[in-house]
Amino acid sequence: MSSSLSAGVPVRHYLQFSDLTASDYAYIFERAALIKKKFKTYEKHHSLADRTLAMIFEKASTRTRVSFEAGMYQLGGSVVHLTTGDSQLGRAEPIEDSAKVISRMVDLVMIRTYEQTKIESFAAHSRVPVINGLTNEFHPCQILADIFTYIEHRGAIAGKTVAWVGDGNNMANTWLQASEILGFKVHVSTPGGYEVDQAVAGLRSSDSYQVFSDPMEACAGADLVTTDVWTSMGYEAENEARKLAFNDWCVDADMMRAARPDALFMHCLPAHRGEEVEADVIDGPQSVVWDEAENRLHVQKALMEFLLLGKL
Ligand code: CP
Ligand code: NVA
Repeated sequence: MSSSLSAGVPVRHYLQFSDLTASDYAYIFERAALIKKKFKTYEKHHSLADRTLAMIFEKASTRTRVSFEAGMYQLGGSVVHLTTGDSQLGRAEPIEDSAKVISRMVDLVMIRTYEQTKIESFAAHSRVPVINGLTNEFHPCQILADIFTYIEHRGAIAGKTVAWVGDGNNMANTWLQASEILGFKVHVSTPGGYEVDQAVAGLRSSDSYQVFSDPMEACAGADLVTTDVWTSMGYEAENEARKLAFNDWCVDADMMRAARPDALFMHCLPAHRGEEVEADVIDGPQSVVWDEAENRLHVQKALMEFLLLGKL
């Protein structure tokens, strides 16, 4: 999504995975690899010196907060951290007014909130790029990290098959968007009543995914098996009903055996061992969950640079 509130210069937002093209992603992944290498060797990389990022959290976070905050400081910039409880956002100041004010004072905004429409309203009134740090519908920064992680371990993801086992949630929707843009397949298996919705996921067609009622069948031949919590933030009232419905959607060793022998396991974290994944899978040799988490830092640094400075 782009708006043109900054003196006629288009402002580029990252509100969903489809906001960037395959060639933008190729650039960001290459840049993330360079930034990661420099980080590992303590080489300074201050491409966003004197820039400020505002982070607005309306839901809890560990990874997103640490990776954006540490990342911005490591790029030479600084960060302002806001939550619903400690700002006027929690006292019904209109989102449009908040966007106009905050975006006059900082260079970039990251928001974690509930409805996608909320972040879209903010972006429409922002003078600076807005990044989606998770909404009910999407989690593009996580999929950015996951695909970078896949590429690091196995090379290009185009032509590969990703098995999604579990809720048809923000992570599932974002995997589906990514499959259309980057040319891979998603096998989706969710319990009845928790299916992905093609319209909500914002897909052009159903060509890049296939739905399976049996999670074992979804995993058959997959290059990557991935899942997420049964109950996402904001849906806690449904917890007990979800525990019953999702009982057979626990990624276990049998599902991993159904996948390709070199298949990876991913989970965006936080995880509940014994619910959506067994401990021997998430803590086993095919799991790359810690790389996934670390890579949030590197890919988001590349993303922030890209939104503010373009291709360098
Ligand atoms: N994966 C993820 O976004 O984690 P946090 O909720 O801890 O930010
Ligand atoms: N689907 C989960 C992801 C947490 C990072 C949620 O929205 O709570």
